[in-house]
Amino acid sequence: MYKIAVLPGDGIGVEIVPEAVKVLKAVGGKYGHDFEFTEGLIGGAALDAVGEPLPKATLDLCYNSDAVLLGAIGGPKWDTLPVHLRPEAGALLPLRKALGLYANLRPATLYDALIDASTLKKEVIEGIDFMVIRELTGGLYFGEKKREKTATGQVAIDTMVYSTEEIIRIARLGFEIARKRKKVLHSVDKANVIESSRLWRETVIELAAEYPDVELIHMYVDNCAMQLVRWPKQFDVIVTENMFGDILTDQASMLTGSIGMLPSASIGGKIGLYEPSHGSAPDIAGQKKANPLATILSAAMLLRYSFNLNDEAAAIENAVVQVLNSGYRTPDIMESGGKPVNTEEMGDRVVEQIVGY
Ligand code: IPM
Ligand code: MG
Repeated sequence: MYKIAVLPGDGIGVEIVPEAVKVLKAVGGKYGHDFEFTEGLIGGAALDAVGEPLPKATLDLCYNSDAVLLGAIGGPKWDTLPVHLRPEAGALLPLRKALGLYANLRPATLYDALIDASTLKKEVIEGIDFMVIRELTGGLYFGEKKREKTATGQVAIDTMVYSTEEIIRIARLGFEIARKRKKVLHSVDKANVIESSRLWRETVIELAAEYPDVELIHMYVDNCAMQLVRWPKQFDVIVTENMFGDILTDQASMLTGSIGMLPSASIGGKIGLYEPSHGSAPDIAGQKKANPLATILSAAMLLRYSFNLNDEAAAIENAVVQVLNSGYRTPDIMESGGKPVNTEEMGDRVVEQIVGY
């Protein structure tokens, strides 16, 4: 039996997560696995219900599960609260930290059926398939923050901190994953300006001696942002620090047609956390417009990385390909001739493919 903690969160989170659960249940039924789902509160939903964004009950639920499936957190309602109560800084970041999830894997894969859904030209994006490995528990998002009053206003200070150990463990994962793929690793930094990036680069170069079979290419983050839209096919595996990875993966998602397609796996601790790369999309929440595929694909990553159920993960991914090939489209990936479906119907189509109607 596999225990899965289910944290829908806020906004479209409550619409997309049930679709991924439905798909996991279908996979469990087909392959004879017993997945036990237990729901927990997180983010604004938890704040409204029990007064804190990451209740102890939710943390305990995660610790007592084999994997965590998360939707999205945050929304305008909670944006002006003190930092420690906000869904981002008060729940999601501490949850990642508590579970020791220092590595966030975000695969950018273009599905053939969606080649016209991207805003980029076909010849630029055709065949892209790369993995961004984002460091997830260090850097600017976790360094010391301060505000001070001055005579004329305030100063705000954020600190970008990286230790050799933090860089080694994420870079090692980069080399290991690159080794299993095309053996080319892009390490993205801003070593021409930022000190933590200089340590990053030195450390990655040292570690590269252990991986002579992997070609290591250093790239500045600004150049990488440009190269991602200029010629994304040059990338196979990218490893980078927390904030650069946050920004570059939103950008990378649009190469695949929609941010509604990009899944993610946060690993490194005993219990993995799986969530779409996108946010809670308050602008479309409650309208059944959200694309559940990033979450459904995150469920596939859960099966692969936490349970080592590779056939089952592939069954979900293949079902998604079939559904897209059949023309079903949520609004974010709609194109002329597409068959419009809402969030729930998209989930149903994936389930039908899995159970083999
Ligand atoms: C993401 C999100 C989060 C992050 C926010 C909601 C804190 O943008 O998962 O990419 O920055 O990590
Ligand atoms: Mg982000």
